Amino acid sequence: MITTEINKDIREMTTFGLPAECGRFIQYETSDDLRQLYRDGVLKDALHIGGGSNLLFTTGRYDGTVLHCANRNYRISPPDGNGKVRLEASAGCTLDELCRICAENNLWGLENLSGIPGEIGGAAVQNVGAYGTEFKDVVEHVSVFDTVSGEEIPLSNKECHYGYRDSVFKHQDYPGKLIVTSAAILLDTMPAPRLDYAPLKKLFCNIPPNQLTPAMLREAVISLRDSKLPDPHKTGSAGSFFKNPIVSSDRHAAMEKALNKEIPGHVTSTGEIKLSAAWLIDQCGCKSFHAGDAAVWQTQPLVIVNATGKATGKEIVQLENMITEAVRDAFGVELTPEVIHI
Ligand code: EPU
Repeated sequence: MITTEINKDIREMTTFGLPAECGRFIQYETSDDLRQLYRDGVLKDALHIGGGSNLLFTTGRYDGTVLHCANRNYRISPPDGNGKVRLEASAGCTLDELCRICAENNLWGLENLSGIPGEIGGAAVQNVGAYGTEFKDVVEHVSVFDTVSGEEIPLSNKECHYGYRDSVFKHQDYPGKLIVTSAAILLDTMPAPRLDYAPLKKLFCNIPPNQLTPAMLREAVISLRDSKLPDPHKTGSAGSFFKNPIVSSDRHAAMEKALNKEIPGHVTSTGEIKLSAAWLIDQCGCKSFHAGDAAVWQTQPLVIVNATGKATGKEIVQLENMITEAVRDAFGVELTPEVIHI
């Protein structure tokens, strides 16, 4: 079913909770609906949203069309001979809801992504990640609707060109050219804990893997998130506002030499260094920065919050610029936002 609303207030459909109204809001359910919208010519310039957890409405009004998939169907296949299970989830499924269902059914794969706000469509575009797992580690293929040809096609994991918070979907001729309709996720019925993230390793390294359950990991991840990140029900934010900047190892060494101090970072699979944006921001004293009702979250300064619920997009952008400038001046590093400015 397709529903259309004009001049809709979509603030409640975003996690930042900033003023956000759009010219036209269209909600659909099926691929047939998408084909209908394609024939009506409304897909080309539309902004597709998921859980609105990574969007920053900078002005409070977006004149164009906003699309949303209301399909929350999912299906779990029986285990194959290798104990693998396929979860096929429509774009509108809530990621954390699936994490919970998998943990309850002792299926391994999504547990480290517990607590991440947003829907499957957004997760597939953004390659969301936390605590040592990225969406790309579990997704087998993604089905997409091509808004130019009007065809629905499957893209393999490889064809999605996943990188750090990056995918083929972010490099199209125009944003939203490919609309994610569903994702197939491969899960394990046999224990497959991912304990690369140091605090998780510390908690579980002495427990034999066959005594661990995905529910134990999920609980630990949620409590780690609760200790660092704002409660999305109480304080508006878009999670990490900035990406962790990646620099060459030579650049990292030169920075350490010039500043005469150790600069924390992780070596990536390409041998580059992923710096901790939270650390850079903290070192610059940005935790005390604020712009109107926009503030920095004290236990995770990578997160900008709508502190009172009354912040505006303009104030968030003002604070973003203050932080970006401070880090540039102190370290010569350019922070790039993870959130999408609308
Ligand atoms: N830190 C400080 N000061 C602070 C807090 C933290 O310097 O006040 C430094 C510490 O050195 C700490 C480091 O920040 O070790 C890193 O913090 P954390 O482990 O929380 O990870 P992150 O790199 O800041 C990334 C993701 C998060 C994800 C966590 C955990 C990005 C942009 N962010 O944050 O993702 O939850 O790792 O895996 O990659 C999101 O994308 O919305 C998100 C929350």
